[in-house]
Amino acid sequence: MMDNWLKTSLLLCIFGFLKEIRPSEPYVTHFLVGHWKNFTTNEVYEQIYPVGTYSTLALLVLVFLVTDYVRHKPVIIADAAFGIAIYSILIWGQGIPLMQFMEVLYGGFMAGEVAYYTYIYASVDRDKYQMVSGHTRAAYLVGRCTSGVMAQVLVSTNAMDYLELNYITLGAMIAATAWAFLLPPTKSSIYFHRDKSIVPSQVGEERGEASIAEEPPQGRAARAFHFLWGDLKAAYTNMSVVKWSLWWALATCGYYQVLSYTQVIWEEIIQESGQQLYNGAVEALYTIIGALSALALGTLPLRWAVLGPPALASCALAQAATIYAIATTNDLWLAYACYIICLAAYQAMVTIASSEIAKQLKEESFGLIFGMNMFIALALQSILTLVVINWLKVPPRGQFVIYGSYFAVLGAGFVLVTLYSMIKGDWRGVTFKSLWLPKTQERAAASQ
Ligand SMILES: *[C@@H]1O[C@H](CO)[C@@H](O)[C@H](O)[C@H]1NC(C)=O
Repeated sequence: MMDNWLKTSLLLCIFGFLKEIRPSEPYVTHFLVGHWKNFTTNEVYEQIYPVGTYSTLALLVLVFLVTDYVRHKPVIIADAAFGIAIYSILIWGQGIPLMQFMEVLYGGFMAGEVAYYTYIYASVDRDKYQMVSGHTRAAYLVGRCTSGVMAQVLVSTNAMDYLELNYITLGAMIAATAWAFLLPPTKSSIYFHRDKSIVPSQVGEERGEASIAEEPPQGRAARAFHFLWGDLKAAYTNMSVVKWSLWWALATCGYYQVLSYTQVIWEEIIQESGQQLYNGAVEALYTIIGALSALALGTLPLRWAVLGPPALASCALAQAATIYAIATTNDLWLAYACYIICLAAYQAMVTIASSEIAKQLKEESFGLIFGMNMFIALALQSILTLVVINWLKVPPRGQFVIYGSYFAVLGAGFVLVTLYSMIKGDWRGVTFKSLWLPKTQERAAASQ
């Protein structure tokens, strides 16, 4: 007999895997400007893609609250169903307005990930959270790699063209929607349907007194917002959470900009040079390299409290350099290599940042705090898109110079944070040896 939590984890992982099977995604720009749709690159990056960013931002809060209110499963099903609609429009739709509508749905699709990630916390016991998060992360990676490799092989062998890849994606979205019905419904949720048992044991010192001493607020919504506010306050008054979250949000904003618009640059390069695209392979490679580096960094017993700021600074500066290179090169291979380094570096550091943030939080508030950080990232991304693309109408290469500078400023900021902590004395007595956690402490941390 399989344990219940293991069964839930498996069901969730298969869903997560199916949802990542989107082999057409690395080629979506090429598809939109190709003879299938005949858009110009200008139309794609000025009129179509920005809608997705704005829509994700607009829908994130709504989806977060609705998810908590209706308890996950309906939102997960709807999310996958949005995937069906998106790829149906991509395949059969024509014209800019319809593609903009597709981007609105894509925003919902991205925002809907919240339901999938918070489902864990409502469906398995606390002591299994970490294990199940590990499983879903692995499912995501395997899905993305499979998808990238599949895309590359099918295209390189001429077995399929870029339109036909969309049929595979559509098939996977249909399968994911059907699979979502198998997920066990959750009985509790974190804010609107809080499990009674969570309240006394988990309401911590800060907010416990207040909420018990005062008359409890009337109504479910008021209570939900009360808990929500308490979690936000507890998290963002912690300096360590603030520092890592700041990098998390700023770097994620830049990461999504690079992710969304780099295909436009590759497209420009091949239009001049007539080279073949290897976007699928590149997608698979950066996913694998990012995951392996994250794993390696995560296993080393490094003292991140000290090493954090200089590591984040180096990561951002390396990203700045690679993005400048992408902005200026005419060599597709160099652009690919820089893209892989830039994204893999982000993936490795963001994993460390996430776990450093998570260490300081109660499990129930993971969803909220990461949702909040995501919201900040999206808000910044929307501002950046609005100013750089829709207002100043900077061409793609110019945009990448701006994104490179953005990371340079982020890196410089964390150099300052590092210097500040040195002046403050955090580095006093720090030797090469003391950057590693001693064995005993490591074991103590592991057994906690
Ligand atoms: C796109 O343009 C090509 C060549 O100009 C044409 O053959 C094709 O039918 C067009 N496709 C659409 C969807 O308009």
